Amino acid sequence: MRDVIIACDFAGAEQALEFLDKFKDCPQKPFVKIGMELYYAAGPQIVRDIKARGHKIFLDLKMHDIPNTVKKTARVLSNLEVDMTNVHAAGTIEMMRAALEGLTRPDGTRPLLIAVTQLTSTSEERMQKDLLINASMEETTAHYAANAREAGLDGVVCSPLEAAAIKRRCGADFLTVTPGIRFAGAAADDQVRITTPARAREIGSDFIVVGRPITAAEDPVAAYQKCLEEFVY
Ligand code: C5P
Repeated sequence: MRDVIIACDFAGAEQALEFLDKFKDCPQKPFVKIGMELYYAAGPQIVRDIKARGHKIFLDLKMHDIPNTVKKTARVLSNLEVDMTNVHAAGTIEMMRAALEGLTRPDGTRPLLIAVTQLTSTSEERMQKDLLINASMEETTAHYAANAREAGLDGVVCSPLEAAAIKRRCGADFLTVTPGIRFAGAAADDQVRITTPARAREIGSDFIVVGRPITAAEDPVAAYQKCLEEFVY
């Protein structure tokens, strides 16, 4: 099940498809994350186009609204045939349940649904000062993960540094999808809670989400292969 998901954070369809062209000779098409930037720029057609090229898709729109709105939005997304999508756990258990309901198609199938615990760009200090959450990062993310599990979700997005504690609390089959990945010795950019692909594997992540270390690499295919070697094989 372990896999590397490439965050296709591009400003338009043309750049995204041109980037993915580089992977056309790869034996297995990479799992691709479409986030807000690309989705808002290119709309649902980009999801269909990338899907038609044989990629699995994680649609990372981080829904966070009142339960009724999230349910109806999730119903629209269920028609897009993505493989994974997400909500913010901060939206409450009721909102997560509504998302799950909306996402489930009449035949009972649905994409994987995971919840964002705390963004990997948020430090414990900022969480406590800005969000007034007076608990540790580890306690907060494990609690949000437990809420997601209670709502029936498949897993969470979290820092690899929290994945082990979340697995202990929610069970080994509860998926951890972990961004904040950097190769040893590379710049952190705006990420705070980061680790290498190899370490993410040791800790027990199921999926790593890798953006700039692949998209901004001189040789993106080689950087992707390096992630696969460290994390999957
Ligand atoms: O370029 P980089 O590897 O930092 O990209 C990480 C990707 O994962 C971005 O698309 C970002 O939106 C996403 N993400 C994150 N932290 C979360 C959830 C999603 O960095 N908690």
